[in-house]
Amino acid sequence: MANPQQNKTYESIRMGVDYYPEHWDEAMWEEDVALMKRSGVAVVRVGEFAWSRMEPRDGEFNFDWLDRALDLFARYGIEVVIGTPTHTPPRWLTEKYPDILPILPNGGVYQPGVRGHRCFNSRELRRYGERIVSRLAERYAAHPAVIGWQTDNEFSLLDSQGKQVAEDFRDWVYQRYGTLEQLNRAWGTVVWSGEYSDWNEVNPPLGGSPYQNPSFLLDFTRFQWEMVADFQNGQIAAIRAHCPDHFITHNYHSYPQRLDLYKVGEALDFASFDYYPNTSPDKASTSPYSGALSLDVTRGVKRQNFWIMEQLSGSPGAWMPMWRMPQPGYIRAYVWQALSRGADTVVHFRWRSANIGAEQFWHGLIDHSNVPGRRLAEFAETSAEVQRLAPLLEGTTPEAQIAILMSHEQLEALRIQKQTDSFDYYENVKEYHRTLTKLGMGCDVIDWRQPLEGYRVVIAPHLYLLDDEAAERLSRFAADGGTLLLTARTGVKNLNNVCVMQPLPGLLADCAGVTVREYDPLGSDVVRLDAEDGEQYACSQWADILDPAADRRIEVMARYGGPVFFAGEAAVTRHEFGRGETYYLGTHPEEDYLRSLLLRIAQERDLPHTEGLPAGVQVSVRAGSSGAYLFVLNLSRDTRRFRLGGAYAQASSGEGLLGGRRYGSGEMEMKPYEVEIFRL
Ligand code: GLA
Repeated sequence: MANPQQNKTYESIRMGVDYYPEHWDEAMWEEDVALMKRSGVAVVRVGEFAWSRMEPRDGEFNFDWLDRALDLFARYGIEVVIGTPTHTPPRWLTEKYPDILPILPNGGVYQPGVRGHRCFNSRELRRYGERIVSRLAERYAAHPAVIGWQTDNEFSLLDSQGKQVAEDFRDWVYQRYGTLEQLNRAWGTVVWSGEYSDWNEVNPPLGGSPYQNPSFLLDFTRFQWEMVADFQNGQIAAIRAHCPDHFITHNYHSYPQRLDLYKVGEALDFASFDYYPNTSPDKASTSPYSGALSLDVTRGVKRQNFWIMEQLSGSPGAWMPMWRMPQPGYIRAYVWQALSRGADTVVHFRWRSANIGAEQFWHGLIDHSNVPGRRLAEFAETSAEVQRLAPLLEGTTPEAQIAILMSHEQLEALRIQKQTDSFDYYENVKEYHRTLTKLGMGCDVIDWRQPLEGYRVVIAPHLYLLDDEAAERLSRFAADGGTLLLTARTGVKNLNNVCVMQPLPGLLADCAGVTVREYDPLGSDVVRLDAEDGEQYACSQWADILDPAADRRIEVMARYGGPVFFAGEAAVTRHEFGRGETYYLGTHPEEDYLRSLLLRIAQERDLPHTEGLPAGVQVSVRAGSSGAYLFVLNLSRDTRRFRLGGAYAQASSGEGLLGGRRYGSGEMEMKPYEVEIFRL
C-alpha cells in the first residue's frame, strides 16, 4: 500500500463539482457525467448527506446505487471524494435513539427536518456513524475512482446540553482539574455562591445565559472542541483502517465560526473550505478582502495548501433571500483568487441547482431547466485554463514573511465577554489582514501556538488570554530581531479566563516596553489620534493610556487628541527590544493609520509591497521549484487603472500567462473581474 504521505494526488491543481446522484433520476447520470467530463470536471464530491439511501433501515445497507455512480465516474476518468453522511442521521435512527438529537441550551430538542441534528457526544451516533463510515471505507477502498474522504460536513458548535454531554463534560473537567478545590479556585466559583461541593453538580451551561461564569463558559467551549475532534477521530480511524492511501479532509465553513479549526485540523491530511464570496454590489468592497482572509486562514490550518470543497457557482439563496447572480467573469476570478492563495483543487457547489428540497435556490452551475448556460461555459473555460497552468503551479505555495496570529481561544473568550459594543475579535483580525492585502503584502494566518521561525513580522491582535509559553515565544521572536505588533486587550487574563493582577499587557509588558495606566472602553465613540508626523486619524473601540517604561528606548508614535481627559497621552508606541522591536497599539485606529504603520514597517524591513492598489484589486505570489508567480486580480465590478510598484512592476512587463498581455512599466488596466498571472 502506498504511504498516504507520498500519495499526493490531492496536490493536483484542477477543478471539480459537488454532485448528488441520489437527487436525480438515474437515467440522467451518464449524460451529467459526460457533460462534466467535457466541461473539465476532474473531481466530484458525493455522498455527504445520503445516509438514508445508504442504510434505509437499521443494518440494511444499500450501496448499489453508489457503486453505479462511482463506476460511471471511473469510466469517465473523474476522481471522487466521498463525504461521510453523519451530518444527517436518518429518521429511523433518531426515532430509535432520540438521544442523537441535540438538546439546545433553552432545553428544546433540535429536531430532524433540516440537517446537523446530531449531538457529537451521543454514543449511538458514534456507533452508527462509525459503522456506516466503516462500511463505506471497506467497500470503496479499492475503487478506482475514489481518492479521498471528507468527514461529515461543516462542523460547528451546537452547545448541546443532553445527559451524555453532561457526563462527558463532568469527566473532562475532572481530568483537567482533579479536585473540586482546584476546580473552584480555577473558575473562581466563590462568586455568587457557585462553588461545587460534588462532581455531580458540574453541568453544561443550561439556559445558555451569557452572564454565567466566563471561566466555566470558556471551558465548556474547549470541551466541545475536543468532542468534535473525538467524533471526527472515530471516523478517521474507521477510514484509515481500510483506506490507508486515501486522504482525509474536512470542509470548514466561513466565520462567524466558533469551532477551533486547528483542533479539528490536527488529524486531517489537509484542510478544505467552502467559499461563497458575497455577490451583492454593496458587499463588493469588502467581500474580496474577507474572502482573502478566509483563504489564508484555511491555508494556515495545516500550514500547507488546501482545497475548496464548495465554491460559489450561482446566486445563493435558501438560508436567506437570494443574492445577486455572479456576473460574467466572477466565477473565473474567484477560482483564481482561491488558487492564488494556496488552494489546489477547487470544487464547485453544485453541478445543477436542486429542484427539490430546501436549497432549491442555492444555484448550481446549471439552472433548474437543465439547459447548460453561461455559468457552466465560464466554469469550463476556467477549467481549461487551470489545466493549462497546472504544470507550472503544482508544488507552489504562497510564501510569507508576515504572520497574523489567530486564536479561537481569544475569539471565544472575547465573545463570552464582549469588551465594547464595537469590539469584535475577528472583525479586527480582518482589518489587519485587509490593510496588508491592500498594500499587496502577503501574509500567513496561523494558530497563535505555532512556532514563529521564518517570519520577520508578527501581528498578534488581542492576546487577551496569555500564558508564559506564548509570552516567552513572542518576546523571543522580537528580541531575536523580529517586528512584533501587539494591541490593546493583551495579557488581560490567564488561560482560565481570570483577570491577572498585574499592569497590562501583563506577561508581555516587558516586551512591549509600556504599561497601561488606565483604560477607557470607547465602544463606538470616536477619538482623535495624533500621529507623530502631524497627521490626524480617528480611533475607537478602546483606549489604553500608556506609560512608556523610563529605562527603555520607546518612540511614542501617536497620542490621543481632542476633548478627552487623556488627550496628549501615548496611544501607540514602538519599543526597541533586543535586536528587534515591539509595537503596541493601545487603541483601534482607523484603517488609514494602520496602513501608514504597516507601510512604514514594509519600507523599513524591505518587504515586498505596492502602494496604490485600487479597491478590489489584489496581488499575491505562489512560489516553488517551478518558479514564482504573481497573480493580479481585479475583483471589482469596475475597470481599474493602477500602477504596480517594485518587483511587481518588473514582473508585469513580462508576458501574462493567462491573457498574454504585457504591461510595460507596471501601468495596469484591468476590466471587471480580469485576472493575470506573471512570472516573478
Ligand atoms: C454549505 C453546505 C452545503 C450547502 C451550501 C449552500 O456550504 O456544506 O451542503 O448547503 O452550504 O447552502
